[in-house]
Amino acid sequence: QRAIGVAVLGLGTVGSEVARIIREHSTDLEARVGARLELRGVAVRRIDGDRGLPQELLTTDAESLVLRDDVDVVVEVIGGIELPRKLVLAALNAGKSVVTANKALLAEYTGELAEAAERQSVDLYFEAAVAGAIPVIRPLTQSLAGDRVDRVLGIVNGTTNFILSAMDETGADYADTLAEAGRLGYAEADPTADVEGFDAASKAAILASIAFHTRVTAGDVYREGISKITSDDLDAAKSLDCTIKLLSICERIVAADGSERVSARVYPALVPREHPLAGVNGAYNAVVVESANAGRLMFYGQGAGGAPTASAVMGDLVMAARNRVHGGRGPRESKYAQLPIAPMGDI
Ligand code: NDP
Ligand code: HSE
Repeated sequence: QRAIGVAVLGLGTVGSEVARIIREHSTDLEARVGARLELRGVAVRRIDGDRGLPQELLTTDAESLVLRDDVDVVVEVIGGIELPRKLVLAALNAGKSVVTANKALLAEYTGELAEAAERQSVDLYFEAAVAGAIPVIRPLTQSLAGDRVDRVLGIVNGTTNFILSAMDETGADYADTLAEAGRLGYAEADPTADVEGFDAASKAAILASIAFHTRVTAGDVYREGISKITSDDLDAAKSLDCTIKLLSICERIVAADGSERVSARVYPALVPREHPLAGVNGAYNAVVVESANAGRLMFYGQGAGGAPTASAVMGDLVMAARNRVHGGRGPRESKYAQLPIAPMGDI
């Protein structure tokens, strides 16, 4: 059996952990995939200095790397939108399977990318894009594919939850805690995406799209961040026996005439102390799914950071590689019915 060639785009917080796991766990991974996973190259911005990998694996030419004949699966962990869009499309159009952790990209272009994957009959996987290590994409697209999901609600940004929990528990300073979240690899390259709710809005768009089999983009999501939350706000919440959490709420709204709309919104909310989401602290995330038949499900775990996110990426990589070896593909997209988006004022 030939090896499966892997290209990793990005060697930052997530990419360096993905490269480490591929190299350190090669024997286990080979047994799970049914063929050896071989790292063919890693795209970075700069090659100078010790990047922890043999120099010959590094390249600044991501475009050529994704098109190499000996690359079967491309892992995109660069971040941003336009460059990864170009690289992921090029990879899919060339018949490579793609794994990405990039929620900002997916929240805008899942449709375009999924169509390219469909045309080429290859996999496009993105478990790591929402809630880090927590399996939530696969449960929604596979385990619950025969159910009717009505609501997906949760804490899907680790950085803001880290900040709010520290402010609540120890009265920590907002700016210091944000800087610490950056050092720990939780925050985005531009942490405005975290604190102003853009990251959570991208994740809400992805969750609403797959939960309700419709297309929701980041721009459809009502969004407020946490940058205006003060310690006085947290004290006021405490006096009500509540805490403050940045919630992402996606709901299917059914009107009296049976017509359906979708609402997706992100904002800091008062959460009663006895609610399970109030106990989700630090960079942990939790997602509650409510469906017609399964009832209420809750998914909980590390929502950010290199190793937890790489765990989800590696799960996707093993699935994609296995399909390349044995044939078959992951879940196809539903036939989407475009549901109207309900504006915030209507909720
Ligand atoms: P980092 O900023 O730590 O790493 C980005 C990497 O991309 C760097 O290695 C950088 O190279 C490389 N890169 C940037 N531009 C280019 C370019 N033009 N060509 C080649 N390489 C380039 O990001 P993260 O690892 O934190 O995040 C990566 C992705 O994963 C993002 O989409 C993020 O949203 C997502 N994600 C991150 C999580 C986390 O906890 N950090 C969790 C879930 C998802 P160089 O090292 O040379 O600068
Ligand atoms: N910056 C993101 C967060 C990374 O803090 O949740 C995980 O998607």
